[in-house]
Amino acid sequence: MDFIKEINRLRKEKNAIILAHFYQVPEIQDIADFVGDSLGLAQKAANTDADMIVFAGVHFMAETAKILNPDKLVVLPDLEAGCSLADSCPPDRFGDFLKNYPDHIVISYINCSAEIKTMSDLICTSGNAVELVESFPKEQKIVFAPDKNLGDYINKKTGRSMVLWDGTCEVHDILSTEAIIGLKTDNPDAELIAHPECKAAVLALADFVGSTTALLNYSRTSKSEKFIVATESGILHQMQRLSPEKTFLIVPSDETCNCNDCPYMKLNTLEKLYLALKNEKPSIELASEVIEAAKKPIEKMLSLSLELGLIK
Ligand code: 13P
Ligand code: SF4
Repeated sequence: MDFIKEINRLRKEKNAIILAHFYQVPEIQDIADFVGDSLGLAQKAANTDADMIVFAGVHFMAETAKILNPDKLVVLPDLEAGCSLADSCPPDRFGDFLKNYPDHIVISYINCSAEIKTMSDLICTSGNAVELVESFPKEQKIVFAPDKNLGDYINKKTGRSMVLWDGTCEVHDILSTEAIIGLKTDNPDAELIAHPECKAAVLALADFVGSTTALLNYSRTSKSEKFIVATESGILHQMQRLSPEKTFLIVPSDETCNCNDCPYMKLNTLEKLYLALKNEKPSIELASEVIEAAKKPIEKMLSLSLELGLIK
């Protein structure tokens, strides 16, 4: 079957929009109406007039789209596409943790479940986290969840001492400084660009730290010809497309392969996307009370980002 032809026919027939994250396989990125980072995808989801959203990403991203569009049908090609970082923060344990900090506000990274969002005052992404935290007075007490690497990075950048939940992303947290030092030694002309979910030791070596969109923009506009990329391999598709003459070296997750794939992001395939569009499932379903409560901190993030000029 020609999946691309069928997807194109069905998306028109059903007035569907296909949103894809940069970590999706290249053939999904190529067919999407929009490819972006979590912030760009949330903004697109908030503004779409499509009847159906096919979310080629992971569960928390599709959930965010559903929270912003309770009356629309939101499908995820593979419902098993979760996120180790979101899973590292179970709501019951987080609730108990928060009891220790009654005078703190809660800022949560968007990589968390809808239940965690209902317990948060504000959501942020890697594309706006530093600026959103900085929009609060220095003395504001803050609990930051679930990514301790991103939280630690923000603390260092802003001079705050937010209380951090002890969560990590299994893909970024294992990138080894040894592998990076080896790549830097062999490629002294390359710049190291890293996602803030990486460990502090990796971020300390980086020439530039940012969200996937920020890394992509940096690789396009920097004068450097070579980049060592410390994030998931999927981003290389757009980096190479926008700068075909430049060289991109991914930081490998182990010695056995030259790759670094998120096992959850890579569960989605073109065939599963076609089936989700055709069968209108698996769909994201959430209780109305959860939608109601989770919507507030997400909408606050979007309005604050707009106010601060972080999005247009
Ligand atoms: P971005 O918002 O930077 O694309 O990050 C999403 C993500 O899951 C990183 O692991
Ligand atoms: Fe989650 Fe990490 Fe995969 Fe991003 S790369 S979706 S944070 S497991």
